[in-house]
Order: sequence, then structure tokens, then C-alpha cells
Amino acid sequence: MIAVTGATGHLGRLVLEGLLARKVPAAQLVALARTPARAGELAARGVQVRQADYSQPASLDRALAGVKTLLLVSGSEVGQRAPQHQAVIAAAKAAGVQLLAYTSILHGDRSRLALAAEHVATERALAASGVPFVLLRNGWYLENYTGRLGTALAHGLAGSAGSGRIAAAARADYAAAAVEVLTRPGQAGKVYELAGGARFTMAELAAEVSRQSGKAVAYADLPPPSFREVLVGAGLPGPVADIYVDADVNIARGELDDQGGALAALIGRPTTSLAAAVKDGLAALG
Ligand SMILES: NC(=O)c1ccc[n+]([C@@H]2O[C@H](COP(=O)([O-])OP(=O)(O)OC[C@H]3O[C@@H](n4cnc5c(N)ncnc54)[C@H](OP(=O)(O)O)[C@@H]3O)[C@@H](O)[C@H]2O)c1
Repeated sequence: MIAVTGATGHLGRLVLEGLLARKVPAAQLVALARTPARAGELAARGVQVRQADYSQPASLDRALAGVKTLLLVSGSEVGQRAPQHQAVIAAAKAAGVQLLAYTSILHGDRSRLALAAEHVATERALAASGVPFVLLRNGWYLENYTGRLGTALAHGLAGSAGSGRIAAAARADYAAAAVEVLTRPGQAGKVYELAGGARFTMAELAAEVSRQSGKAVAYADLPPPSFREVLVGAGLPGPVADIYVDADVNIARGELDDQGGALAALIGRPTTSLAAAVKDGLAALG
């Protein structure tokens, strides 16, 4: 059986849909959800839905019974993720999981992003656990930018990313990569640095949004403290603003760029282009 955590989240749902599209029998799939009631659509398609909360080890032991292959989608509760992921790894070990795939961060072993620390802790816990594992070191999602184009159209884009390139791909591309890894033999021990071919700067993003929307959208590159002020002024809590600023400072240093092409090679097609992602983002605005 193949189980996927975060089944009610964006990436987990796409992976389960991809596995079903690959004709993996629904009876061999387990959707792990914090709130199973939110996974009704998957249950209706015959996927077993089990309750699993990274913060409740007993739920994890129950949820992983009989599971041979597990995709651990990194959690969204920043600051709590290292112990949460360690609890999943411990439960996977107890359940005899034969392959654990983990969604880490691009170049996790050398990344200077503050967000990388919890991923590195998880990678270390995996190495120490004895559970066979494969790392999907995912780069940035295109949707981080194209999912909020309304704000860009109203106020322009701001950040501290300088002229750093962002090798982003769509969530659907990363999900397709996970489907490959979960269904192909011989994955234990592999490390995939997954990033998109759409290597854009923030100024190029602004130019693409302007071109497609017909409205001039500018990118204001700000010193980090000024960008933080903008974010806090827009209502973000300070610690969250700090994460965004840190990410941009590191984008400026090239930390989210990559030219390895491993994602396109794994999924057997080019990753989503910036133009296509902007088109989808604008269409979603209605
Ligand atoms: N590469 C990037 O650009 C990028 C951007 C954002 C996030 N990420 C990382 O990639 C992950 C997947 O992305 P996504 O877009 O699918 O995020 P998402 O839609 O927020 O999904 C996160 C999933 O994690 C689940 N989760 C969080 N805490 C949990 C807990 N304590 N126990 C069980 N499940 C828990 C959530 O459950 P619920 O459905 O119950 O909330 C949700 O299903 C994120 O969680 C984050 O670690 C990457």
C-alpha cells in the first residue's frame, strides 16, 4: 500500500490524483489526513482515508499499519516540523515501511534559507532511522507568486530578491515527480534536486504579468528592513514576515536557483513555464 500524508493539502491531493490517473488501484492507496471529513472526494473514489496528525504519535501508528511506501509531505506548522516529522519517521519504522519519500527543500544540505533547518533535521532523522528513504528536495512553487496576482495588479510587486533567479515549478510538476518516485523501483537512497526550468527574476515576473494583463506592474526591490515593514503593514505577523524576507535575501544570493534539470528529466516533460503559470493565475482572478 502507498500512503500519502497531507492528503487534504494542495500537494498531497495532487499526488493522490496522479497515482489514481496512473491506474494504481484505489484499494492500494491510503490518504492520511488530519481531518478525514475533508477527504470525502478521495474516499468516494475508493481511497482509504485514515486520520493522521503529526503531533499525535498514536494516530500515526494506526494510520501506517500495512503501509509499505509512504510520502511524507512536509508539514505547514513552521517551528514544529522537526519533532512532527520525527514522529512520522518513528511510526514508519515501527510499521515496517520499506520506502519513505520526503518533500525537503532544494539543496537542503547546503541551503542558507532559515526554512531549511527543519528539513535538514528531518533528513538527518531519516538517515539515523534505518528506514529506506528518498529525498524530493523541492524548489519554490510558481504558485507562491502566481497564486496572488490580484495583489500584484493592485499594488505592484515588492521584495528583496534583487536579480536572483527563482527556478520555480508548478505544484503539479512536483506532484508528478512524487508519483514517479512512488511507483518506480529502486528509489531508496536517491536524492532529487527538483526545480523548474522557468528561471525568472522578480523583474521578469513583473514584466510577464504586465504583458499578459495589459496593466503595468512594477517590481520594487527594497532593502530587507523596508520589505519587512511592507509585509507587517499588510498584516503579516512579524515571524512570518521574517521568513519571507529571509527567503528573498537568499533568492538574491541564488539559493533557489538550479539548472540541473532533474525535475523535467524525472517527469519526462518540461516543467510549467512562467507564461503558463501567469496565465492560470490571471484566469483564476476571473
Ligand atoms: N516549495 C514551496 O514553494 C513551498 C511553499 C509552501 C509550502 N511548502 C511546503 O510543502 C508542503 C506541501 O505544500 P502544499 O502546497 O501542499 O501545502 P498545504 O496545502 O498547506 O498542505 C500542507 C499539508 O500538511 C498538512 N499538515 C500540516 N500540519 C499537519 C499535522 N500536524 N498533522 C498532519 N498533517 C498536517 C496539512 O493538513 P490540513 O489539510 O489538515 O491543513 C496539509 O494537508 C507544505 O506543507 C510546506 O512544508 C513548500
